[in-house]
Amino acid sequence: AALDSINTFRIAAIAKRYAKITHEMDLVSLYKSEAFKAPFFVIGGGSNVLFTDDYNGLILHIGIKGKQHFIEGNYVYVTAAGGEVWNDLVWYCVKNKFPGMENMALIPGSVGASPVQNIGAYGVELMDIFYSCRAFDTLSGEYVTFDKDACEFSYRDSIFKTKHKGRYIITSVTYKLYLKAAHNISYGAIQSELDQRLITNPSIRDIAEVVSHIRVEKLPDPSTIGNAGSFFKNPIISAAAFEVLIKRFPDAIYYKLPQQEYKIAAGWLIEQCGWKGKQIGQVLVWPKQALVITNAGAASGSDIYAVSEQIIHDVAQKFDILLDREVNIL
Ligand code: EPU
Repeated sequence: AALDSINTFRIAAIAKRYAKITHEMDLVSLYKSEAFKAPFFVIGGGSNVLFTDDYNGLILHIGIKGKQHFIEGNYVYVTAAGGEVWNDLVWYCVKNKFPGMENMALIPGSVGASPVQNIGAYGVELMDIFYSCRAFDTLSGEYVTFDKDACEFSYRDSIFKTKHKGRYIITSVTYKLYLKAAHNISYGAIQSELDQRLITNPSIRDIAEVVSHIRVEKLPDPSTIGNAGSFFKNPIISAAAFEVLIKRFPDAIYYKLPQQEYKIAAGWLIEQCGWKGKQIGQVLVWPKQALVITNAGAASGSDIYAVSEQIIHDVAQKFDILLDREVNIL
């Protein structure tokens, strides 16, 4: 099967086998036919994967649909199937006036992928609103439910990327939203865009619109330019490493974290190495956000991978910091 239409990098890779999953029972049938004993990979929105070659296994494309909610006191529990588009769910909540997701408007990808890397933007992370998820265990062939603690969320991370990588297939997620939640407009860019629009008392719709606007201005639209959002994570370094860095580079952009650690803006590190807007063959480092690598047209996955290797190398040379990819490499 051709994979170019189901990965946002638009890499023209081929999978040996492909199955679209539209019902939870489909996974049970695949288990019975021993499909999970051979290599397989799960795709939702295809917005966080780079195929560097053809895939010699089974691609499972999660297309299970459905959204529902129920209100209990000051909370609403919103449950969505894994194949729903994340941004559609955000707008479902905005329209129903359920607060909590609006800062994460327009993040590409599916509901099922949202817990895997604990997606986040503009001061809010998925773990802030996550309640539980239902997942198929490809080892036992049974469905299991994970609560928030069990997922061990941290910055762009969870058990689904670390100790249980590849084992579970998330088929639905429940979010718990506090109906009286205050807006989070701590992020400077949101506040200044609200100021420009003369909005002093924003609704959640205002925030979703402002966030979408900021993203559209700065990030390439995956429906027209192949990309997977941030290619790397923002690196987290120790206080000791930070002291050395800031002495040499007083302009470095960073966020202080609890636990004596510092998160450094990877976009800034990459820009300082001269990569912002640089094009090598068909691979373009986005001119407005150096953390995003794009497919200028006919790049192969290995072309993109090669550029990411050069970026990692240059950042390591200049700053002695090792960048970690956010995107899954296959
Ligand atoms: N910066 C530069 N040069 C650049 C890019 C950024 O100097 O080329 C500086 C900016 O000026 C800013 C700082 O770096 O001071 C942070 O930039 P930005 O606000 O664009 O956010 P980011 O840290 O680069 C993260 C997420 C994004 C998310 C934004 C907004 C990661 C890996 N990325 O990017 O998420 O939208 O914050 O909250 O944490 C994604 O994960 O795919 C993604 C797009």
